[in-house]
Amino acid sequence: IMRVAILISGRGSNMAALLRAAAVPGYPAAIALVLSNRADAAGLAVAQAAGVPTAVVESRPFKADRDGFERAMEAEFARHGIELVALAGFMRVLTEGFVARWHDRMVNIHPSLLPSFKGLDTHARALAAGVKLHGCTVHLVRPGVDEGPILAQAAVPVLPGDDEAALAARVLEQEHALYPAALAWLAAGQVRLQGDVAVVTAPGATGALAN
Ligand code: GAR
Repeated sequence: IMRVAILISGRGSNMAALLRAAAVPGYPAAIALVLSNRADAAGLAVAQAAGVPTAVVESRPFKADRDGFERAMEAEFARHGIELVALAGFMRVLTEGFVARWHDRMVNIHPSLLPSFKGLDTHARALAAGVKLHGCTVHLVRPGVDEGPILAQAAVPVLPGDDEAALAARVLEQEHALYPAALAWLAAGQVRLQGDVAVVTAPGATGALAN
């Protein structure tokens, strides 16, 4: 069973979904730490209520020293025996050095069907582009922001009359199902890399979540 740190910056609803999944017997990962770069992240209280160890490493004082910030996070990881890192609404860009140290051991969830709509404000940009399918992606983290081998995706329709909030809510529901599945595949050793492509070998897994 793999010891996972979940990194958050805010609400933590994906973190909560991972905590729920990891509480089910047989899940191949244990959430050993929830770490926030903001002391006011609402998700911290959710983790504490679930009895999960939490840590705060404020990024603000490290503004000019991102390596120092990441080394401070890794000191917490070491304290908690962390083997895998799951970014869940973590809003800091990580350095190449940190990404290299956690190569193939760090995943992210992004609220779009990558490689479309990297970066911020994905739902507003999807609406502005007029796409008819939108969704979310779990991927291994590489130095480029929102780049890296895709483990899993889920798609939702964009419906007439959608606003940003309605579309975000539809995607978020899928995020909460997709992330626990994808993290389980990685933790169970069911992800193989063929160059830049991740192949999931879990029985029945396709990497696509059917709605
Ligand atoms: C989620 O929609 C997640 O995909 C997104 O932020 C939200 C966090 O919500 N992540 C990013 O935009 C990463 N750049 P949560 O805190 O309730 O999980």
